[in-house]
Amino acid sequence: MTASRPSSADRQPDRLQRPLVHDGRVSSLYDAVGGEPVFRQLVEDFYAGVADDPVLRPLYEEDLEPAKVRLRMFLEQYWGGPTTYSDQRGHPRLRMRHVAWQVGIRERDAWLSHMLAAVTRLDVPDDARAAIWDHLERAAHSLVNWPPPGGDPSTVAGPDLS
Ligand code: HEM
Repeated sequence: MTASRPSSADRQPDRLQRPLVHDGRVSSLYDAVGGEPVFRQLVEDFYAGVADDPVLRPLYEEDLEPAKVRLRMFLEQYWGGPTTYSDQRGHPRLRMRHVAWQVGIRERDAWLSHMLAAVTRLDVPDDARAAIWDHLERAAHSLVNWPPPGGDPSTVAGPDLS
């Protein structure tokens, strides 16, 4: 894989690239589930969980609002909504953008636990919920970057509690 290739977190799986037929009209999942309010709620609920999470909260800036906007813009774009994310931020390149943080299994699972709670609360059809969750789960797995490949886990696994 070359450095310029998008990570699987950015790539739309073939199955989902096909437009959805909704009320006899072709639309994106973004339109089919109701657009921005749905993604706004997803991100609000997710960050409400992050705000109290001892593992994740230290990774984020004190003001969570800008991070909420970035995640919402990304997800809206991914699901066929406005391309504001790339207009403002360029190509997502999520793996590259996450190298600033040590994303291990612990961080991934904490992130996914808040996302699962938020996705579960969405008022959307089950197939849309399943597609959204499938993407988030696969993306989270693809963004784990710690310990680095070839690294010595004994030196990076956290404090020695033995
Ligand atoms: C696996 C666990 C993850 C952790 C611990 C994590 C952590 C973070 C942190 C600390 C930031 C900086 C917040 C900001 O200022 O924007 C961030 C940004 C971001 N994350 Fe994650 N993240 C994870 C997974 C994901 C996943 C699965 C996605 C997408 C489905 C995602 C999408 C984004 C986006 C779009 C940004 C903003 C990037 C930018 O434009 O700068 N993250 N993440």
